[in-house]
Amino acid sequence: MAVLVTGGAGYIGSHTVAELLAAGEQVIIVDTLGQGHREALLGGKLYVGDIRDADFMDGVFKENEIDAVIHFAANSLVGESMQNPAKYYHNNVYGTLCLLEKMNEYGVKNIVFSSTAATYGEPDSVPIQETNRTEPTNAYGETKLAMEKMMRWFDTAHGMKYVSLRYFNAAGAHESGKIGEDHSPETHLIPLILQVPLGQRQHISVFGDDYATPDGTCIRDYIHVTDLADAHILAMNKLRSGGDSGVYNLGSGNGFSVKEVIDVARAVTGHPIPAVIEPRRAGDPAILIASSEKARRELGWKPAREHLPAIIESAWKWHQAHPNGYRS
Ligand code: UFG
Repeated sequence: MAVLVTGGAGYIGSHTVAELLAAGEQVIIVDTLGQGHREALLGGKLYVGDIRDADFMDGVFKENEIDAVIHFAANSLVGESMQNPAKYYHNNVYGTLCLLEKMNEYGVKNIVFSSTAATYGEPDSVPIQETNRTEPTNAYGETKLAMEKMMRWFDTAHGMKYVSLRYFNAAGAHESGKIGEDHSPETHLIPLILQVPLGQRQHISVFGDDYATPDGTCIRDYIHVTDLADAHILAMNKLRSGGDSGVYNLGSGNGFSVKEVIDVARAVTGHPIPAVIEPRRAGDPAILIASSEKARRELGWKPAREHLPAIIESAWKWHQAHPNGYRS
């Protein structure tokens, strides 16, 4: 049987494909290559197309014996989602509806879903548990929450089992050095910091130092992308062996402020990395830290790369070897 990975040529998708291949799985990838990169695929069979294209997806399901889907295909920029919510409803919500309908048509009963901490919005308590209130503060998080709810009703109606994985801040790159993070435009803190020692940026901007945190900058929970990838495989195998649907946070449980992340990057790269304080970025919660106890308990997830210096070192290795991402 084969696993279908939608959005498999993206950052987290491609690292998951790499882990699936290492586990001996037969992997089918669907990606528009709008944001993903062909070079990010270390193997598997790629179909270039859109999950909303019914004829295209008929071909994918007819040509392969798919028993599980891992669904990454989506837009994921918070800022863009606030400017253009329609794009997010169309690609994310309608795209997922099309995918679930096709899965139902072809009798595929297992789906692992790429969700986000943005489903919580400003948390009512930290560390955040899966039972915390979900009140997204941006359209991106709202669409991901809508996609999760859609899966719940497909489970109720059709017995389609889902595991939704709510990631905190994905970071780092694959041990092989062959794949890593390459977004265009790049908005994430760690790759932007590393552009300074690469000579591509004069300084890193710190978006606000007046938050209610010990040093005034936002605190986030950074988790290695390969640890995230491993959780998808555990979740898929749980569903394959008859496990029930569920929602799980994925984070390290450790919070680092923006200033602390910059300090770690200075130590890893040996570069002074100048930082300039700028105004807050709209919609940023002060503190996001995960409780991943449920994933550890029920999925048997054991993140193996939890230390921030090691996470940043793996990213630094990738960016040094690929200063222009997959173009170099
Ligand atoms: N930041 C800076 N300077 C920068 C870039 C980021 O100070 O140049 C700060 C942000 O304000 C934030 C922290 O660094 O406080 C982390 O920002 P990222 O953009 O790297 O990550 P986010 O926490 O904003 O976003 C992540 C995921 C999103 C997800 C969100 C959930 O990338 O997909 O968590 O809140 F929606």
